[in-house]
Amino acid sequence: MLFRSFYFRHMFFKCTSLFLGAGLLAAALMAPAKPLEKRIDFAKQIKPIFKNQCYDCHTTNHAKGGLDMSTKAGLTKGGDTGKLFKAGKSAQSLLIKRLKGQGGPRMPKGEDALKESQVKLISKWIDEGARM
Ligand code: HEC
Repeated sequence: MLFRSFYFRHMFFKCTSLFLGAGLLAAALMAPAKPLEKRIDFAKQIKPIFKNQCYDCHTTNHAKGGLDMSTKAGLTKGGDTGKLFKAGKSAQSLLIKRLKGQGGPRMPKGEDALKESQVKLISKWIDEGARM
């Protein structure tokens, strides 16, 4: 009798942990996976665009509109008008607006516009939190 109740209790715990395990596994598989490597990499994907298309007029010693895009401090501070972006809100960000020619001349000023894919990439970077 003693043996039997021990056996059942043992089986009960075994089944419970099996259920829990399966539940956790299912939850892990169904969770909206956002792998870190899929996130925009500022140094690799964003900075080169700024460097090629914006540094001509927006560096520390040559900051048109008061905007230095060559440093983290400068990007964080923004220009004469104010902050360059609102993390998570690309559409309302000065940076994206000016790339589209909203609220002032389109940037880069007097040069070819960025490709739509580049503007999208920068927007995504801002929406992901503009991490540098
Ligand atoms: C040929 C020079 C030139 C290039 C290249 C250039 N800009 Fe500008 N930018 C200016 C000038 C001049 C101003 C100030 C006058 C104005 O706001 O239009 C300015 C102002 C800005 C402002 C507004 C700053 C503020 O706070 O008022 C933003 C944002 C901006 N630029 C973004 C960019 C971005 C992003 C790039 C690269 C894709 C870029 N610019 C490339 C000349 C340039």
